Amino acid sequence: MAAAPQPDPFVPQLYRVTRARRELADTATLQLVPLAGPRPHFEPGQFNMLYAFGVGEAAISISGAADAMSFLHTVRDVGAVSGAIAKLKTGATVGLRGPFGTGWPVAAAQGADIVFVAGGLGLAPLRPAIRQVLADRRRYGRVVILFGSRNPKDMLYRRELEQWRQRLDVDIEVTVDHADADWHGSVGVVPALIRRATFDPRDTIGLTCGPEVMMRFTVSALLEAGIAADRIYLSMERNMKCAIGLCGHCQFGPAFVCRDGPVMRFDRIAEFFAVREI
Ligand SMILES: Cc1cc2nc3c(=O)[nH]c(=O)nc-3n(C[C@H](O)[C@H](O)[C@H](O)COP(=O)(O)OP(=O)(O)OC[C@H]3O[C@@H](n4cnc5c(N)ncnc54)[C@H](O)[C@@H]3O)c2cc1C
Ligand code: FES
Repeated sequence: MAAAPQPDPFVPQLYRVTRARRELADTATLQLVPLAGPRPHFEPGQFNMLYAFGVGEAAISISGAADAMSFLHTVRDVGAVSGAIAKLKTGATVGLRGPFGTGWPVAAAQGADIVFVAGGLGLAPLRPAIRQVLADRRRYGRVVILFGSRNPKDMLYRRELEQWRQRLDVDIEVTVDHADADWHGSVGVVPALIRRATFDPRDTIGLTCGPEVMMRFTVSALLEAGIAADRIYLSMERNMKCAIGLCGHCQFGPAFVCRDGPVMRFDRIAEFFAVREI
């Protein structure tokens, strides 16, 4: 049977918002379903280009799938495009190109311990990988989830974090930079949790996503804990236009983040990661 024709990667496909859930004051999760045809396959870690009509396009990670027909996207309002997308209501339509980019090495990590380190909205691209690992839990060694939020009120996916915490087969630690009177958990930055976590560094894969400064400290802490540089993966963000490796907007050293990332193996980018603003 002939393979189904792939849509032109430059042409946004129409998607309907079938659910809009407010996560935080400035952040919403949208469930998107194609108006025609099936939802394309995606790997955890990949992103789509979402197009708000009359405003513009932004790269947004796939934060999960509610079912085989939908994508979930968690969007923070930081400007014109992300603001327009984050404010979309159920029933609205949006343009979508993708999925693009590389995914987390979820299958390759089978048999090993796996450490997820997320900061703030960085939990969004890691969430489908965490869900996949937990759905196939027996194939992995220890599963450690370390998450840091600015403060308790800005904590993303709070209900899901609580569900993960209920499990006896996951080590989860959550910390906040600034506590309030109701917070009784850890206070401090997320990389500091790595020292307290239990895993076999000789056989562990480390996955991290968050603000770049947080990922710098996380990578240092993972290396210090004994995980080799070629077993650490991070998700990079750069401004994107074409998303298919043609325009050069997302250049990062010799790599294009849209094509060679966003998930990149640390040893392959260490030289450039050390340079700020590259
Ligand atoms: C691979 C990838 C995955 C992403 N995943 C998500 C996601 O899941 N959820 C989400 O809310 N956002 C995500 N982003 C960031 C999102 O693309 C930007 O926030 C958005 O493009 C900003 O556009 P704007 O018009 O709303 O704001 P602009 O007016 O363009 O910018 C507003 C502010 O945000 C800063 N900014 C713009 N683009 C970025 C960027 N790529 N990274 C960091 N700061 C930026 C600008 O410097 C400026 O200070 C992702 C970006 C990439 C490259
Ligand atoms: S966005 Fe055009 S090359 Fe990456």
